[in-house]
Amino acid sequence: MPGDSLDANPTPEGIKSILFDETTIDQRIKELAEGIEERCGSDGLTIICVLTGALMFAADLARKLDFPVEIDCLRIGSYGNRLNSVSKPKFSAPLKNSIRGKPVLIVDDILDTGHTLSALMSDLEKQNPSSIHSCVLLDKPDRRQVDIEADFVGFTIPDAFVVGYGLDFAEKFRALPYIATLESAQ
Ligand code: IMP
Ligand code: MG
Repeated sequence: MPGDSLDANPTPEGIKSILFDETTIDQRIKELAEGIEERCGSDGLTIICVLTGALMFAADLARKLDFPVEIDCLRIGSYGNRLNSVSKPKFSAPLKNSIRGKPVLIVDDILDTGHTLSALMSDLEKQNPSSIHSCVLLDKPDRRQVDIEADFVGFTIPDAFVVGYGLDFAEKFRALPYIATLESAQ
């Protein structure tokens, strides 16, 4: 019907504004993949996807890497329904395969306070991989509590709670193809 296409994908209730659309995300992931290939691509790579938030990002990134990768997943205690981070993240799923002697790339959705990435790095280092790099889609440096940076960052953003493209608020909004800010009254 005339006019239907305009409303085909209305912005869901609770979404304030779109920060990064699908095309922008796709283009940036291509650039990240090129950087990762340059620095980590010589001996293959084990991608460790931090569930659930990094699901879409890891899947898209892995398909843009032009060399063989293995993929494993970890699950970490989440924000639940809160907007604030936890200072001692809990790992709730072990890796399926050993990473001993292998080059590893941690892929996470957001580097926020830094507690998650820092705990993850120390845990994985104990498993003796040959190298560990980290790649996050988003970085919120203003919120950092632990002195840590990621090796590869998609976008640096200000201190705002964001959802979409894997990121949730209370399990909502993960499947949105874009990254958006939330109305504050969530
Ligand atoms: P950190 O331990 O504080 O660095 O938190 C990292 C984790 O918190 C991320 O992997 C996300 O799962 C979650 N997180 C942090 N900021 C946001 C956000 O703006 N939206 C959704 N999840 C977030
Ligand atoms: Mg996470």
